[in-house]
Amino acid sequence: MAELYIGLMSGTSLDGIDAVLVDFSADKPQLLVAHNTPLPADLRKNLLALNRPAAGEIARMAQADVELGRLLAQTVKQLLALHNIDNTQVRAIGSHGQTIRHNPDADVPYTVQIGDPNTVAELTGITTVADFRRRDLVAAGQGAPLMPAFHAAYLRVNDASRVIVNIGGMANITLLPSHPNKAVTGFDTGPGNVLMDGWYQRHQKGRYDKGGKWAASGKTDPAFLQRMQGDKFFKLAPPKSTGRDHFDMRWLDRLIKRHGKRLQRKHVQASLCELSAWSIATAINEYAADAHDVIVCGGGVHNTALMFRLQALLNGRQVLSSEDFAIDPDYMEAIGFAWLAKQTMDGKPGNLPSVTGARHPVVLGGIYSA
Ligand SMILES: Nc1ncnc2c1ncn2[C@@H]1O[C@H](COP(=O)(O)OP(=O)(O)O)[C@@H](O)[C@H]1O
Ligand SMILES: [Mg+2]
Repeated sequence: MAELYIGLMSGTSLDGIDAVLVDFSADKPQLLVAHNTPLPADLRKNLLALNRPAAGEIARMAQADVELGRLLAQTVKQLLALHNIDNTQVRAIGSHGQTIRHNPDADVPYTVQIGDPNTVAELTGITTVADFRRRDLVAAGQGAPLMPAFHAAYLRVNDASRVIVNIGGMANITLLPSHPNKAVTGFDTGPGNVLMDGWYQRHQKGRYDKGGKWAASGKTDPAFLQRMQGDKFFKLAPPKSTGRDHFDMRWLDRLIKRHGKRLQRKHVQASLCELSAWSIATAINEYAADAHDVIVCGGGVHNTALMFRLQALLNGRQVLSSEDFAIDPDYMEAIGFAWLAKQTMDGKPGNLPSVTGARHPVVLGGIYSA
């Protein structure tokens, strides 16, 4: 019998809501249907603004919370219509929501994801699991990354060590050792697409640098790259996680100003592309020396320039797309959140303490009943 879950993901890129319907009854998750809903420009602007402290933010957050909840519910309905099934057949929705703050290393650690699950459960009539990160934080973890447990469940093999790289707004890696007694680890490596997107949106038409063509038309400025590489996040030992709180356009503008010398726009784009490739590759070369296969998912897999530089910096390892393992790279994370909802519904933990740094495994999220 089918065991159906829905996963909803909206990452730091703010490029839209990824929604998937997944059947977990076989030994591998079966993606039945996937759908992406773009964020309306107003909501996107409001969500982006909420990443920074400003006047009136509580009311604006509460409003965006409900608005996003409605959009998530609408997305679920579209997904069900596409596959022609009704809500009673779905056991639960796993909804990540939109991160608007992430500060796990503060004196009082906190992380905030919005997209009201009450609204989602009420409007869809499907039990909704949400707020996946905070319990891990209370257990002294980073609350991120959460994908490694899912990667370990389905992509770990005992004849080869593997690395999974997710290149979304931020980039994170999962190290899957071949030896069964070795713990799975993983952490955020820094910016993935977020800075390239921001720079592109400021100076070109469109949302992102398709195929990395603009980056490929420029040249990395070694001195500027070195300045960016000096950021303290890259030197931190894992567990570690990051977000727009740290790597955003203000960060970039500050470094450009400090650099002083004039930089051509396309050279900045090339340098940002190199920074992403370098930070991912350096983390892999340092922490997964024995891994041969590097499996990439997330929107960054479509950035040819970035993939080319990643391959070049990975000392002969093989860079593959998750597509080669029958997992759509654009929907890996959404499938992962459907799986995390299943873990929670089954009363099983979703975090890996060896990844997040939590004291112990915890059942993640809250359950909002249909
Ligand atoms: N064809 C493409 N060429 C270059 N970059 C792409 C392409 N398609 C998607 N991307 C990048 O992927 C990003 C979205 O990736 P995604 O995995 O959805 O990130 P997030 O989890 O942060 O939402 C886009 O903002 C863009 O930077
Ligand atoms: Mg996305």
